[in-house]
Amino acid sequence: MIRIAVLLSGRGSNFAAIDDAIRRGTLDAEIVCVISNRPDAPGIELARERRHHAHVVDHRKCGSRAAHEEEVLRILDTARPDYIVLAGYMRLLSPEFVARYPMRILNIHPSLLPAFPGVDAQAQAVAYGVKVSGCTVHFVTEKLDDGPILVQRAVEVREDDTAETLSARILVEEHVAYVEALAKLSAP
Ligand code: GRF
Repeated sequence: MIRIAVLLSGRGSNFAAIDDAIRRGTLDAEIVCVISNRPDAPGIELARERRHHAHVVDHRKCGSRAAHEEEVLRILDTARPDYIVLAGYMRLLSPEFVARYPMRILNIHPSLLPAFPGVDAQAQAVAYGVKVSGCTVHFVTEKLDDGPILVQRAVEVREDDTAETLSARILVEEHVAYVEALAKLSAP
């Protein structure tokens, strides 16, 4: 059984998919806390509804990046996760933060890295005209959308795809990929 902390900023569908897998018994893990940097994130409301330890650390009220991270780290130190799962967390982590949890922070990105890092990966894929894209679960390093890859799932890009239609099909695979990656880590 692995202990997971989830960091999110928005919708929280990846968080919900992981939580569903745990509840179904297909993932041997426990979500020890959910932290959002945005008080209005639907994902943190979902965490409350599902009776998780839900915390908001509003970056706009913290004064500095360091102060915000310090508060997040304080919560994490108490929750003692084995892994920190970034699930639509729209904040860059400082090298100091990453160094506190080396090879223990995971991220999901909606492209087949190293293609299309950064924002709007699905729109980048459509604009480039690639025929295949997908999603990547990887360990977090100091560099953005970089680090050893745990799982990738491919998605066909159709002629008539828009960023929205492609995003929707990639999202379905993201939910599978995150559970698959965490299952790998929880295996004895
Ligand atoms: C996903 O597309 C993920 O790949 C990206 O942010 C989005 C988060 O979606 N990093 P959700 O909040 O998990 O629904």
